[in-house]
Amino acid sequence: LGRDCSVTVQFTVGGLEAAAAAALGEEEMNAVDLQSDKGAYPTEGSLGKHGSALNDKFSAPATTVEDVAVGIEKAIIEENAEMVVNPWDVAGEIDYTKLIEKFGSQEIDAALLARIEFAIKKIGKVDTLHPWIRRSIFFSHRDMNKILDCVESGKPFYLYTGRGPSSAAMHLGHLVPFMMTRWLQEAFDVPLVVQMTDDEKYLWKGVYNDGDDNLDHYRGLTIENAKDIIACGFIKEKTFLFSDCEYVGSMYPNIVRIWKSVTYSTAKAMFGFEGGSNIGQSAFPAIQAAPSFPSSFPVVLDAGRDSKMACLIPCAIDQDPYFRMTRDVAHKLTPKDHPLGGKPALFHSKFFPPLQGAAGKMSSSDDSSAIFLTDDSDEIARKIKSYAYSGGQETSKLQKEKGANLEMDVSYQWLRFFLDDDAELEKIGNDYGSGSGEFWATGMVKNRLIEILQEMVKKHQERRAKVTNEVVREWMEERKLSF
Ligand code: TRP
Repeated sequence: LGRDCSVTVQFTVGGLEAAAAAALGEEEMNAVDLQSDKGAYPTEGSLGKHGSALNDKFSAPATTVEDVAVGIEKAIIEENAEMVVNPWDVAGEIDYTKLIEKFGSQEIDAALLARIEFAIKKIGKVDTLHPWIRRSIFFSHRDMNKILDCVESGKPFYLYTGRGPSSAAMHLGHLVPFMMTRWLQEAFDVPLVVQMTDDEKYLWKGVYNDGDDNLDHYRGLTIENAKDIIACGFIKEKTFLFSDCEYVGSMYPNIVRIWKSVTYSTAKAMFGFEGGSNIGQSAFPAIQAAPSFPSSFPVVLDAGRDSKMACLIPCAIDQDPYFRMTRDVAHKLTPKDHPLGGKPALFHSKFFPPLQGAAGKMSSSDDSSAIFLTDDSDEIARKIKSYAYSGGQETSKLQKEKGANLEMDVSYQWLRFFLDDDAELEKIGNDYGSGSGEFWATGMVKNRLIEILQEMVKKHQERRAKVTNEVVREWMEERKLSF
């Protein structure tokens, strides 16, 4: 490990990379050939950021083999207890500040909030920022400033988001990106494309048995999930929903361009593909990337190869790896004078916490961790009363003395998502969190949450009941959007 030699290290987790950077210092790190298996893909400055984050963590500058070993070992220990965030796994306690560093995205800060607010007020369709933006539920972005530049100079952009239809019943967590997208569409008055990745779910779920093919099952789920998405209230003339299985033809030229631009070793490093991954999985990232380019929508966005329309993707942060890859190859697919160099901009949300604890992500395979959009009022009340993890104290006496741990309290965390009234939320937070002021026991917070969710889910069910198969067909018809 002398200063002049170069080293090849096979890392399995992001933290190891970090440990090595800490132990070696950034200069030496440049000589290390990173073969990251799973963790951070070194792009957009993420590696540089690792280096500095690490230097805080393991402060002593080190030059010996022992120091490197110790650094790596520390990272293994930390990493085991640590967060995992990728399109297939979300686990551990999520540190969102660290995630921004690790992914190399930007924080949505006060200056950006002010800019968004200024822009939407000027457009005049909505008059206040969405609570999820104000409350940092959407907390990270890439190039949102450039989207606002486009808005200010009258250049067009469109929204793109999606859903992997893995189960018929969607839960509250699945609504988060769609509710945000609905607001963005209204506020900026822009077209939207929604990708339903029935192909993705088919490729990833279950084993392929002869005579037991279930692709049609996932195509059917696309239609069922489309009903829930439509029920969120998008503007029909400005929204196109599509199933990959049906629509892929129009995107195909761009898919081929993306395939050619990404090597297999890059895909392996970014997505963890292995010998046992099927070749459809390896090919899939290009399919999720393609809708980021307006020319994938020749009819819908009336866009040719020379289109300079910008793209903004609202999504949960676990989808970011797909779009880091997309941004890396974007310049090859777009005209030189595109305002973002062809790169899609991103608007990232935190995860909606499961009932059992305010960490990780809600899962549709665990019935008791989620409220489904099909649950009735009694079921909603029952689940929250029996499962919602409480950060409150055991007795009223203790609660008055110490107050509740709001970070841990799922009911309070869910209120941050679904109680729109800032003043009421703040009051509950102060009183319940401190134990002083008006008395709030956990059960009372739960009751307030139950009221809100029963009302919200009931309204959703009423809207969804009106969405017939025929209505879905209309939204999924390839047609020029009005914008
Ligand atoms: N992969 C996503 C999922 O499993 C679906 C998806 C496709 C998506 N395109 C997207 C999500 C764009 C957000 C933005 O749910």
